[in-house]
Amino acid sequence: MMNRTKYLIGNWKMHKNFSEAETWIETVEIPSSIEIMIAPSFLYLYSLVRLTRPSNLHIAAQNMHYEDEGAFTGEVSPRMLLDVGCHNVILGHSERRHTFGESDQLINKKICSAAESELFVTLCVGEPELVHNNGKDKAMEYVEKQLRASLQGLTSALRITIAYEPVWAVGSGTTPNIDYIADMHRLIRRVVSSIFNDNSGESISILYGGSVNSVNAQNLFADSEIDGFIVGGASLDAMEFNKILEVMEE
Ligand code: 13P
Repeated sequence: MMNRTKYLIGNWKMHKNFSEAETWIETVEIPSSIEIMIAPSFLYLYSLVRLTRPSNLHIAAQNMHYEDEGAFTGEVSPRMLLDVGCHNVILGHSERRHTFGESDQLINKKICSAAESELFVTLCVGEPELVHNNGKDKAMEYVEKQLRASLQGLTSALRITIAYEPVWAVGSGTTPNIDYIADMHRLIRRVVSSIFNDNSGESISILYGGSVNSVNAQNLFADSEIDGFIVGGASLDAMEFNKILEVMEE
């Protein structure tokens, strides 16, 4: 079996001010065997990169624009992320897709731009509830389409991690059963290998996201298809985050 990198990503969304972030960072216990990332507001990237360096706790942006500069009011560019020392970015999060109307085509532009800038990308994919209600085959078709459209034109899966986040599981307190997640991760591996015409699907880390907490993490992480988690709500509490890390280290 492939020895894939394990990740735990805390996506803070629009939560936490600077002093709350500082307290969180003081409380969290950073292991050496797992890559840990937190994605705070853009406003705190500069300070948190400095506060956490050098350590195994990495800082990620929750989004970015695809251009390096220009008349794009309210946007942040890849060049700006690199300038503040942030080398990681989450792209295609379901809230960006569904609340802010980001299309696969837009996400593809962002991913190509991130690749040019040598940023590490966590690409989120996952089916919405309406698709999920039509059955697993339809959900798989949907995720495959998202992947193919988002990764189009890229020459390598290097620096890409995929997060499978079924939209209906995000913030709902419900997770799919493990077999469902594992099947989806296997599909993602097949599609990634087919896109890049190699076996990168086997080495790429695929994380699960959607209502992960310290209670369900143990079961989920026991499945060899799941290389870690991207956590929203439960990542806001450093003690809860520590508990998830403990489960992953066991
Ligand atoms: P929850 O863990 O709150 O369901 O959010 C998941 C998520 O959106 C992480 O990116």
